[in-house]
Amino acid sequence: MKVEDIKQICVIGAGNMGHQIAVCGALAGYKVSCTDISQDMLNKAEAFANTYLPERVAKGKLRQEQVDKALANLSFTKNLEEAAGAADFVIEAAVEKIGIKRKLFADLDRITPPHAILATNSSFIVSSQVADATKRPDKVCNMHFFNPALVMKLVEVVQGAHTSVETAQVTMDLTAKLGKTGILLKKEIYGFLVNRILGALNSEALYLADMGIATTEEIDLAVTNALGHPMGPFRLMDFTGIDLAYYIGMERYQNTGDATDKPSPLLVEKFTKGEYGVKAKKGFYLYE
Ligand code: 3HC
Repeated sequence: MKVEDIKQICVIGAGNMGHQIAVCGALAGYKVSCTDISQDMLNKAEAFANTYLPERVAKGKLRQEQVDKALANLSFTKNLEEAAGAADFVIEAAVEKIGIKRKLFADLDRITPPHAILATNSSFIVSSQVADATKRPDKVCNMHFFNPALVMKLVEVVQGAHTSVETAQVTMDLTAKLGKTGILLKKEIYGFLVNRILGALNSEALYLADMGIATTEEIDLAVTNALGHPMGPFRLMDFTGIDLAYYIGMERYQNTGDATDKPSPLLVEKFTKGEYGVKAKKGFYLYE
């Protein structure tokens, strides 16, 4: 398959990442069908597209015809068969639970046309952990976007040992068609590049807060004002989801057994209280 053969993209999951990946695809001229098990999430994703896109026209960033075309390209359905049945390329952005992802990949293998590429947007799970749930491991890879996906320019593509060169190339070419810069990793590594680097920063920030060396606000101030990051680590964890940071930490700790990988007490406290960040209106900060 070549990138030109991709007409229909299916995005699995309408959450933090999926809803924006879907809009990226529609803006790039692809028919995109976004699916989720939650009708509420789908309604929110559709409402986002219906407000975000016209706002881009009002801001002078897009033309009305581009928005009309993008909206016509987008569809939202709870029905996985309907969403994925004619897909040439699937981007799975469902919850970060390996059991759910393996079941999804097995279903997608059954539902999608044989030529379809099945990519996972997982933040840290390498695709070899889901590829063997399908009969087409050569067409399975990682395609990792960053939040907010409509803004962040990078996509990490990971070619596992099971991934064919063609699949990796088509995924890199699709990344470019979506207006993103791709980095192709030819070796699987937990967390890929960006989340490993970010994880190191977050661990140190949490350690300093746990030790009472500085407040979360002071640490954020240090990172924004001294290192020039647009957001400090605590504000960013609120934005990307404290639940996600917790799952990533737990998964890593379970894999390594290394006590230094254990999620920090402050992170565990926030997770246990359900203070997941922006989406819960409360995390390290309060959101109205
Ligand atoms: N969705 C879509 N677009 C958004 C947005 C959102 N949630 N938030 C901001 N934008 C757009 C605005 O529309 C604006 O676009 P324009 O300049 O073309 O008009 C542009 O971004 C700048 O917006 P603002 O001026 O309102 O706000 P900021 O300048 O503060 O930027 C930000 C907001 C882009 C979120 C910036 O704070 C930022 O880059 N933060 C860091 C994000 C980051 O590090 N992401 C990676 C996280 S790690 C990850 O995703 C890994 C994954 O596995 C979890």
